[in-house]
Amino acid sequence: MKFVLVFVGCFLATSYGDDPYIINDKYFPDSFLFGTATASYQVEGAWNEDGKGENIWDRLTHTRPELIADRGNGDIACDSYHKYKEDIALLKGLGRFANQVNDAGVAYYKNLIKELKDNGIEPMVTIFHWDTPQPIHEAGGFTSEFVVDYFGDYARLVYRLFGDDVKYWLTFNEPKQICHEGYGDAQKAPAIVSPGIGEYLCTHNVLKAHARAYHIYDEEFRATQKGQVSIVIDTPWYEPNSFSIADAEAAERKRQFVFGWYANPIFNGDYPEIMKARIAMRSELEGFSSSRLPKFTKDEIAYIKGTYDYLGLNSYSSYLVAAVPEPTIGNPSWEDDTGAPEFQDPSWEGAASHWVKLTPWGMRKLLRWIKATYNDPAIIITENGYSDNGTYGDDSIRQRYYQTFLSNIRDAMEFDKVNVFGYTVWSLLDNMEWMMGYTEKFGLHHVDFNSPNRTRTEKPSAQYYRKVVNTHCLVDSCVNE
Ligand code: BGC
Repeated sequence: MKFVLVFVGCFLATSYGDDPYIINDKYFPDSFLFGTATASYQVEGAWNEDGKGENIWDRLTHTRPELIADRGNGDIACDSYHKYKEDIALLKGLGRFANQVNDAGVAYYKNLIKELKDNGIEPMVTIFHWDTPQPIHEAGGFTSEFVVDYFGDYARLVYRLFGDDVKYWLTFNEPKQICHEGYGDAQKAPAIVSPGIGEYLCTHNVLKAHARAYHIYDEEFRATQKGQVSIVIDTPWYEPNSFSIADAEAAERKRQFVFGWYANPIFNGDYPEIMKARIAMRSELEGFSSSRLPKFTKDEIAYIKGTYDYLGLNSYSSYLVAAVPEPTIGNPSWEDDTGAPEFQDPSWEGAASHWVKLTPWGMRKLLRWIKATYNDPAIIITENGYSDNGTYGDDSIRQRYYQTFLSNIRDAMEFDKVNVFGYTVWSLLDNMEWMMGYTEKFGLHHVDFNSPNRTRTEKPSAQYYRKVVNTHCLVDSCVNE
């Protein structure tokens, strides 16, 4: 589970003329939600306490530690399972959160949600953030359709247990990372290598499982609990490398293969046409008897379409895309299916994580594109953030990252009329950064992983974020729109 804790130039000229680095001085609306996010495996620890079952990250980090940058694991992590009250105090100071029902686990989340609400903090809960129970994985995991029923049952249980206190639900966090990285190229647990096949099977079941969880809420809980349900889809912004039509087409193709893969079935119905056409074409040339991309039936398309009340968007950075000749036919892969490799400009200022660059202009372009392509949904940015490598004494660049990204979000709201209703920083605490272990740190708070107490210390950028949360203003003084 994950809980979001919500408080009540481009080197190519942008086509709409504004300078993305001039900070917007309009207030965010009073109703705008600010928050920070964490995820259970990354912060909780207590990996085998109180009857908690083993998940795929426990198995991966214990049996194949060489795959993790510093051989780290989430056994203790930030010890938030024991220190959640302290973490909520940090949050308040600033102005997310197994096959038998585990009573101690339920009690932990009930206490956590109560403590949040007692402190005037709105919980936004993601039902699944990558920690598949190991037995479910061994039975086939997300490549098997049985997970749809299991996920539906699990969602029903969490709605029943916690739904009276949770108004914002998210079914899955970042399905592309679950499927492409987990079942395609082994960049994340369960580290299955099945490029061009595994990730499409996984996605098919994740989309059906998401829709099942949405409909269960709709039919059984919405009338009494009055909440909203959606999914978190992640994407960088893909900018064409030049003004050529070929580069523009390649960038749009990449957006469809990354974001449209999930958003199109949910918002418009079925996989994007360009994906269906390209994967069918390459599958045939590779000798497959049918497309590697599974097909939805008409009934399934109708069942999945419209399963959102809003959109959770994770976005951290931008990439460039240039047209290339059709990749040669060989072993199947999602990358070759896209026919649109990505790269970044070496002059872009970057974070400790090689893929995070200070490209705030991409956020506004992305928001405009989503509005135009997916029927103008209400959007909450569920993750956006900047990593250091442990040297956080002066993290003014992280402050600049928040300020310039938020400014482009405010610009998109003001000038492009994009309906953004909230923003949450990744992350409240430095934590277990998956394959990178504890070598890349996104926290507003430093955590001393060498101290038994896992001591938390505020980073300077937290002071800026506190000011923004309290004043809804990015600069010294703001004006109303
Ligand atoms: C994930 C987080 C992760 C963060 C930074 C997002 O992709 O949801 O779990 O820690 O980005 O990599």
